[in-house]
Amino acid sequence: MKKVMLISMISLFLLVATACSGGSGKKTTATKDDPIVIKFSHVTSIDSVKGKAAERFAELVKEKTEGKAKVEVYPSSQLYGDNDELDALVSGNVHMIAPSVTKMVKLDPRWQYVDMPYLFKDQEHVHKFFNSDVAKTLLNSDKLAANDVMGIAFWENGFKHFTNNKRPLKKPEDFKGIKFRAQAGKVLEAQFKALGAGSATIAFGETYAALQQGTVDGQENTYNNIDTQKYQEVQKYMSLSEHGRLDYAVFVNKTFWDGMPEDIRTKVEEAMKEATELEWKLAGEENEKSLENIKNSGKVEVISLTDDEKAALAKALQPVYDEFGDTITSELIDGIRNLK
Ligand code: LMR
Repeated sequence: MKKVMLISMISLFLLVATACSGGSGKKTTATKDDPIVIKFSHVTSIDSVKGKAAERFAELVKEKTEGKAKVEVYPSSQLYGDNDELDALVSGNVHMIAPSVTKMVKLDPRWQYVDMPYLFKDQEHVHKFFNSDVAKTLLNSDKLAANDVMGIAFWENGFKHFTNNKRPLKKPEDFKGIKFRAQAGKVLEAQFKALGAGSATIAFGETYAALQQGTVDGQENTYNNIDTQKYQEVQKYMSLSEHGRLDYAVFVNKTFWDGMPEDIRTKVEEAMKEATELEWKLAGEENEKSLENIKNSGKVEVISLTDDEKAALAKALQPVYDEFGDTITSELIDGIRNLK
């Protein structure tokens, strides 16, 4: 009798333990000793805008959940790079990523709104978009949900600028024959083509080597990415063109997210809200500091563009709108333009 009771008790214990640890990855309870682990993978360095915000998010989650949830941040493509980070999220191997939104083109081509030339006027315009209904439709789209992915926040980086090793770039003609590294997608390919340049899609983690070895002559990025990746060491010219944006969204694996105990999820959402406020502030500050660092390195010739020169580039880039306006949708393009 005693033996039967003991076996029943052990079985009950095992059942409860399995339910708590969740064989399917779902944890119904969490304690400080056995926390919910949120794996957050990204490709930039720990000292980049995104890297700093991700670290702060991890601290905030720890504080707010009193250690019952733990964010493990994997920066610098340590775990997954541009080629496999989204697949890892879809399959649940990581739970959170914050890619440059253009890299979401695989699931929804509208994310390439960010690449449309000279679409955003300034940082305030970008913030208005992040807070708009039209932006929310992107985060919660059926296309993402069909892949078990959901967007929970927009994070900012900044305006992109061209760097290269061939010559100072000011006018559309200057771009002829230069080969640039591109992040992803057909819109960026069309952008370079419209300027008479070539492009190759190269993962962020491999871009420094590609520039150094001359696989490509140039690239486009924000001051902060240029500086934290030390592209100034392998590039001769930087044109302050502000021709497009590089911004992020934070995406989660939906099954994992919905499976978190509600009280924990609420605290994690609060942490994300605070980290996002910080991230937006950091984006402006860190990009300014990075511009100074690049200038002070003395290694790159920094070329300013007048408004007329930017207008000439915008005109040369009009074919990108003609070709991709329908893909991005007028709802998004006009929605963004009318936000002023
Ligand atoms: C790039 O590939 O240049 C950027 O998307 C990297 C990043 O995440 O900022």
